[in-house]
Amino acid sequence: PLGKRVFSGIQPTGIPHLGNYLGAIRHWVDIQEGNECIYCLVDMHALTVWQDPVQLRKQIIEQAAILVAAGIDPQKHILFNQSAVSAHARLAWIFNCVARIGWMNRMTQFKDKAGKNREAQSAGLYVYPNLMAADILTYKATCVPVGEDQRQHLELANDIAQKFNYDYETDFFPEVQGYIPTTSARVMNLRDGSKKMSKSDPSEQGRIELMDEDDVIVNKIKRAKSDSEPLPSEKEGLENRLEALNLVSIYSVMSGKTVDQTLQEFAGQGFSGFKSALSDVLIQHISPIREQAKKLLADQAHIHAILRKGAEKASAIAEPIVSEAEAIVGF
Ligand code: ADP
Ligand code: NA
Repeated sequence: PLGKRVFSGIQPTGIPHLGNYLGAIRHWVDIQEGNECIYCLVDMHALTVWQDPVQLRKQIIEQAAILVAAGIDPQKHILFNQSAVSAHARLAWIFNCVARIGWMNRMTQFKDKAGKNREAQSAGLYVYPNLMAADILTYKATCVPVGEDQRQHLELANDIAQKFNYDYETDFFPEVQGYIPTTSARVMNLRDGSKKMSKSDPSEQGRIELMDEDDVIVNKIKRAKSDSEPLPSEKEGLENRLEALNLVSIYSVMSGKTVDQTLQEFAGQGFSGFKSALSDVLIQHISPIREQAKKLLADQAHIHAILRKGAEKASAIAEPIVSEAEAIVGF
């Protein structure tokens, strides 16, 4: 999509991993060409589960550095943290009053995150999707690149926009378009191919982080779960081999090949040779990002300045929109 206002966010709850990179960050970088992009470190979303304040502050800075190192351009586009632009919280409150409790109760991510312990969750976790709708509509963003897991939240954002427009007899909020790239691989945990790779997994062994040193990458891939069958010559041969399929998919995306091309290259071989080729391609992509992020992190004042400037640019767009929404409701 060309010439759109793009909004997307990532929680500063840890170092971004290969799943975040292949599912989100890589697309954020590509979509910058020809669009107006607003990328947000969603620290208010992070707070819906307990965060150590010292860690949270550190992770916001680290994540900003990694995003810039990965190719987000904070000069041409906007990179900031959510809590620095108060318009998000103000619009989220209005949306808390537009959305219905029944809508919240249908959100599968809350059910997944809360599990059996619903009553003990923060109220913030429950209304998280309303804040996400506010993030997007604070900018009237029309293009929202996210992973498949966010589809229901995007639909809710549209329901909220429509109900607001209907209740207040306006056409103020536009329709939000999700952008879920078809090439967006869902990257699975290296130790358990039935779980997605995630920052919140207690073990780091299941994920490759964008700050991992080369030898750490080699080790994690060496110890990644696979199986004793040789690699097949066709994709069908990976059926019911979750871990093998995950490794082959990662290699394919990272090397710009199709799964079939990858299999032609490695058919008949065992995993040890394949794993060393996989480590190589991972290192080739990740080490420049890691080294650049380290350089940026050596000058933290510069990162703070990037985020401050980003928040100013974001506020300049958000203020008139949210002020008008406030006027519409009678504030
Ligand atoms: P996490 O679940 O690791 O905390 P976030 O909730 O911060 O990640 O998600 C940031 C972005 O990364 C979202 O667009 C999400 O869809 C994408 N993403 C997260 N994990 C994966 C994964 N394992 N594979 C592909 N994309 C992912
Ligand atoms: Na997530």
